[in-house]
Amino acid sequence: MKILVLNGSPRREQSDTMHITRAFLDGMNEAACQEDHIIHVIDKHIEYCTGCFSCMRNGGTCIHDDDMREILEEILASDLLIWSFPLYCYGMPAPLKALLDRTLPLSSMAMRKAGDRYEHVGQADFGHLRYLMICGCGFPNSRQNFEPAIAQFRLCFPGSHTIITVPESPMFSAPEAAVVTKPRLELVKKAGKQYAGTGGIDAALLAEIGSPMIPEEQYAAIVNGGV
Ligand SMILES: Cc1cc2nc3c(=O)[nH]c(=O)nc-3n(C[C@H](O)[C@H](O)[C@H](O)COP(=O)(O)O)c2cc1C
Repeated sequence: MKILVLNGSPRREQSDTMHITRAFLDGMNEAACQEDHIIHVIDKHIEYCTGCFSCMRNGGTCIHDDDMREILEEILASDLLIWSFPLYCYGMPAPLKALLDRTLPLSSMAMRKAGDRYEHVGQADFGHLRYLMICGCGFPNSRQNFEPAIAQFRLCFPGSHTIITVPESPMFSAPEAAVVTKPRLELVKKAGKQYAGTGGIDAALLAEIGSPMIPEEQYAAIVNGGV
């Protein structure tokens, strides 16, 4: 399987979230050898969408000639797109959002009804693509925190999406927290292996991965310097 990882963390290799993503890839590779490529989005030249809609009309291309042209080609040549990012203000970091906006050339202006909502008709053939969101965050609690990012991902990629969220993510970059982060990364690896084999992850495993690694109050006290 060809996997494209879009690392939306400006912290590049130091990203807390990428610890989770790397464990997932390890699990997938354990099941079967995969071909993966990681893009640090912060290092790419991606102009903001100007909203001119010229790309959506008659097979048009974007007015910007920047790194997005190559990224779009790579997206279309992939089987699995992993959006790996930290939660920023309840959504994705701005550089990754700029990339998401610039995927507009894949859609045409035409819209169709899908259940209760409308969606644009594709202009490129990306029906084969599967989407995975891996999102870490700094708060100890997932509730009233991840929901906006999850809703956006589901609406943008209504078919074939899987979502992994993990609270207390700065602990992944703290060696002294290994006693709790190592077992959590093992669970993520298991999820990767499962995903490679079945195309999905058990709800119970996802819930376990998404639970706090240490009690919420304890985490908050550590961050606040109390413990
Ligand atoms: C600008 C900014 C906004 C953030 N917003 C949130 C937030 O809404 N909820 C949250 O739990 N953490 C938030 N955080 C914390 C990060 O999600 C957290 O530090 C994460 O572990 C960083 O992951 P990374 O190393 O992969 O970039 C924010 C951090 C920054 C810098």
